[in-house]
Amino acid sequence: MKILVTGGAGYIGTHTCIELIQANDEIVIVDNLSNAKYEAVKRIEQITETKIPFYQMDVCNYNGMEQIFKEEKFDGIIHFAGLKSVPESVKIPLQYYANNINSTLVLLELAKKYHVKNFVFSSSATVYGNPQTLPITEDSPLSATNPYGRTKLFIESILQDFYTCNPTFNIAILRYFNPIGAHPSGLIGEDPNGIPNNLVPYVTQVAIKKLPYLKVNGNDYPTKDGTGIRDYIHVCDLARGHVLALNKLKTNCGLVIYNLGTGTGYSVLEIIHAFSKVVGFDIPYQIVARRPGDIATCYADPTKAYQEIGFKAKYNLNDMARDAWNWQKKNPKGYE
Ligand code: NAD
Ligand code: UFG
Repeated sequence: MKILVTGGAGYIGTHTCIELIQANDEIVIVDNLSNAKYEAVKRIEQITETKIPFYQMDVCNYNGMEQIFKEEKFDGIIHFAGLKSVPESVKIPLQYYANNINSTLVLLELAKKYHVKNFVFSSSATVYGNPQTLPITEDSPLSATNPYGRTKLFIESILQDFYTCNPTFNIAILRYFNPIGAHPSGLIGEDPNGIPNNLVPYVTQVAIKKLPYLKVNGNDYPTKDGTGIRDYIHVCDLARGHVLALNKLKTNCGLVIYNLGTGTGYSVLEIIHAFSKVVGFDIPYQIVARRPGDIATCYADPTKAYQEIGFKAKYNLNDMARDAWNWQKKNPKGYE
């Protein structure tokens, strides 16, 4: 299939492009480089030995996107492009609503006009809010506690409404848990702007001594050691989940929703321990106050994705820590 990958220069997009090329799909990347560097696309080309058509374009630009749809004639779309920082979304909510929602509306309009009937959307475990029961199944109650999460919830509803009146479309909503790690080559990985918000890039920047120590946000949660528990999934496993989801869409399945997680939760202290083992010294940390809006525990029930698309994570926590560290060591300044 020929796949339009929006946000394909970003963290999850780059890893997915590699999996798609290895599965013999043809890809075209559209990214406005608002949170990525063109160097990331060159690295995908280096790993796959494939020339990748790339358009630096804002997906919200209808006319610009229409030219690309006319030229390229896609069979499917994977829509990664979006703004993703929870704290930033609280500060600039209108930009989050405008970017994440308008980009999706533009793509759906054009998908309809040009008969591109396979659509995969990057949703998030954040749509489960503060889960009442664990593990989290796809039919758990949905809620959002911040503007970023609300964009994901709105878009899921938009996709449901669109599907109701366009039932010949096939749509996969993928709810990612916490992607970490990097491609084993060490050529692509997560390259956050400024001081990282997320745990693992913070830990690896402490490990290369760019940051002095990790602040552990709270050790008074009702968890095994008091620190927050998440379902960390290797980004290459997550990427492979997209190939499997596209295969499912080829069977004319209609609208489907899958959790992409491992089913195992690790605490912040367990993550610190795993990284300390991989880097060969103790990662320094201090316990500080809880981060507002954080939940205690979040991990997936991955059964549905296993039963319906054959998805099962292959990498363990040690692999994730090794590959995240390999990327950080080889690229202390990211793609710069
Ligand atoms: P990322 O920021 O690395 O990648 C997103 C890419 O989209 C960036 O390259 C950015 O430049 C591009 N982009 C943003 N707005 C655009 C626009 N209007 N037009 C064109 N390009 C645009 O983020 P990521 O971690 O790779 O996340 C990809 C998707 O997965 C996002 O939708 C995110 O919300 C979702 N997601 C991420 C996580 C996570 O922890 N990383 C978890 C759940 C869901
Ligand atoms: N944490 C720290 N110190 C830090 C950063 C994080 O202790 O410097 C803790 C958090 O309190 C939490 C855990 O590490 O317990 C994980 O935090 P992350 O920020 O890495 O991840 P979140 O689960 O908070 O959120 C991420 C994405 C969201 C997405 C969610 C579910 O940032 O966008 O995963 O997919 F919605």
